[in-house]
Amino acid sequence: MKRLVSFLMLALPVTLHAAIPSGEHLAYTVGCINCHHQTDKHIINAPPLVIVKAYSISEFRRLMKTGVTKAGRDMASQGSVMGFVAKEQFSHLTDAEVAALYDYFTREWTAEKGVEEEKKIPLYFRQSEDKNGHQP
Ligand code: HEC
Repeated sequence: MKRLVSFLMLALPVTLHAAIPSGEHLAYTVGCINCHHQTDKHIINAPPLVIVKAYSISEFRRLMKTGVTKAGRDMASQGSVMGFVAKEQFSHLTDAEVAALYDYFTREWTAEKGVEEEKKIPLYFRQSEDKNGHQP
């Protein structure tokens, strides 16, 4: 029994650690890349995600939890979709998930990656133009 307990004490932190998805996984699944780099700017005009590099971790945490920018602008009260997704979706992220996202955007994300993602916009949005017969 004592052995089992000490095994669990050793194994638990490892299991918990493994449960935190990578920042890259979160960035793509929660929609940061989609809104900021894969959507026609006429539909959603979001700035390139290299902007996160200008944020400190505590400013980024506040952005994710409340939709308030580094400069103190409350995006939800201005009717901005970023404010709504922060308040209604990202506020549910755990502190570890927010930290993983921050690490990804400040250490691994580059302007070039953003440009690569934006090359997809004409492919996706031309399709909807053809189907509907008008510009999205
Ligand atoms: C539903 C679309 C959408 C999603 C999803 C989204 N964003 Fe945004 N984001 C926007 C828009 C639009 C703006 C510009 C809003 C404004 O300036 O009022 C913005 C602005 C920002 C800003 C700039 C704030 C400033 O300082 O002016 C940062 C940083 C940011 N988003 C990070 C993220 C991150 C990180 C994620 C993923 C966790 C994310 N966004 C997901 C649409 C989105």
